[in-house]
Order: sequence, then structure tokens, then C-alpha cells
Amino acid sequence: MTEPKKVLATFQVNGEPHEVAFLPHKTLLEVLREEMNLTGTKHGCELGECGACTVQIDGKPILSCLMLAVDAVGKDVRTVEGLANGAELSQLQHAFADLGAAQCGYCTPGILMTADALLAENASPTRDEIKQCLAGNLCRCTGSLTIFEAVELAAARCRGEKAEPSKESIYGS
Ligand code: FES
Ligand code: FES
Repeated sequence: MTEPKKVLATFQVNGEPHEVAFLPHKTLLEVLREEMNLTGTKHGCELGECGACTVQIDGKPILSCLMLAVDAVGKDVRTVEGLANGAELSQLQHAFADLGAAQCGYCTPGILMTADALLAENASPTRDEIKQCLAGNLCRCTGSLTIFEAVELAAARCRGEKAEPSKESIYGS
């Protein structure tokens, strides 16, 4: 049996071109992690059920375990490695750190990429809108409340408000 041939393509990821050779049946998740060493994007279920693999394609959150890498060629791919501006964390990353909204952290990259896309479209999401948006991103550790609060905190700071986490948020009520 003949081995499938690799294809060569250039991906635009986090504003940088990446030329890689990969087998055509590989998912975007596999190519990001295995060929570009962008391991911030996590593989969880690989069935479209957990959200750990979420990245942005042209600004929209997508599950990279369900997308063939070839379909991402020519698109603007953004991963969690592209959220910070150099050494400066994004407001979402700051808020997650301030509130302890990540425990094991496995779900966090996917949640950040989903929430970032939400805040790009909606500067003042309601708690229900945040919940709905993050419904496909599962977290086994935090119980999700601090995650919702972190998104609200980041949104407030992005709007220029001097928002600080409440003591209840940090220590629990
Ligand atoms: S790894 Fe993609 S949804 Fe779970
Ligand atoms: S922090 Fe562990 S799964 Fe979310």
C-alpha cells in the first residue's frame, strides 16, 4: 500500500506565515500542535464536544479538532499564543489570573479564544450571553462561575472601567 503524500502549504497563524508539510487528512489541531509546535491549543475529546481545541478562524471561534488543516490555508488563524501582545497579557488573560479562573488550565486556551471572539463582537455581554457563548467549552475544575466573572471583569476593563475583582470572586462567598 502506498503511503499518502504530504502537502506543503503556508498557514497564516497569529499574523505570521508558517510553511509546513502535512498529511492531507490531518486536522488543524494536529498540524498546529505537531507541525508548528503551537501546543497552547489543547486536544481533549477530538469529537467536537469539549471546546479545548478552540482557535479563531477569521475572528470566529472554531473547533480545530473538527477542521481539516487544508481548509485553514488562506485564512487568518489565531491561537492562544497570539492573545498576548508580546510580554503584555490580554485583558482576558489578566482577568483569568486575577480571579483564579483557571485551575488545571486545560480548558483555558479554548475558553479564552471563545471569550475573546465574544468580546470583539460585544463589548458588554450579559451573564446569559457569556454562558451561552461558552456553553461548548467544558471545564471540569472551576465550576464555571469564576470563568463567567473573569469574562465580565475583562469586558469592563476593555471598556475603560476601573474594575477590580470582588473579594467574593477571589475567595468565594
Ligand atoms: S478536542 Fe475539539 S472539541 Fe474536544
Ligand atoms: S481549569 Fe481544569 S478543566 Fe478547566
